Amino acid sequence: MQDDDKKLAAEAAVAEIADGMRVGLGSGSTVAFAIAAVGRRLAEWPSATFFSTSQRTTNAARAAGIPIARFADQTELDLVIDGVDEIDPQFRAIKGGGGAMLREKILASAARRMVAIADGTKRVATLGTAPVPVEILPFARSFVAVRTTALGADPVLRMTVAGKEFRTNQGNLILDCHFGPIADPARLAIDLQAIPGALGHGLFLTEIAAAYIAADGIVTKMER
Ligand code: A5P
Repeated sequence: MQDDDKKLAAEAAVAEIADGMRVGLGSGSTVAFAIAAVGRRLAEWPSATFFSTSQRTTNAARAAGIPIARFADQTELDLVIDGVDEIDPQFRAIKGGGGAMLREKILASAARRMVAIADGTKRVATLGTAPVPVEILPFARSFVAVRTTALGADPVLRMTVAGKEFRTNQGNLILDCHFGPIADPARLAIDLQAIPGALGHGLFLTEIAAAYIAADGIVTKMER
């Protein structure tokens, strides 16, 4: 059911792709449905170029026959399609459940338009039920943990299912910072970004231009 809704939302967003666009593909289980849809429709956009936010997405895209271009040579994209862990009525989101939020933020910021895709369970009135992931330089692990605690977080070092420290695609660690309801996300984003050794965080407050949210088999498109 939830997967059906993810698929519906993803396919609706993929309909925004037009030939010639430079398109960023996010990460996560909802984006996996978008990648599958892009793979099926690829022949419709012979001049489109696709960029990836994670190794997982690159692998899935290539398996679906989608060539992935090198983002390091780019300064601007036309469209980014990405999932969210939570989204509020003001299009503010928490991302990074998959640990790719640093690259996701870069592509989202480079894009003229970012669209979020999600099933209805991701909609919240107030951000903060999900933890805010913070990517940290391993060198600064304890330092950043103390600084996030001072901001009101209960930081937990992300581990793999195998019990090892989770490493991002950049080789860094993630602190999942549990804040509870976040009264002032903008202030928190500034404070997290200001911690030396914190390389990025999962608060996406300004990037999302539109959201496709599917619940009980019905997709709703919302523009900011
Ligand atoms: C990946 O780092 C995340 O930002 C995902 O986009 C987010 O966690 C949503 O993932 P799902 O689509 O798997 O819920």
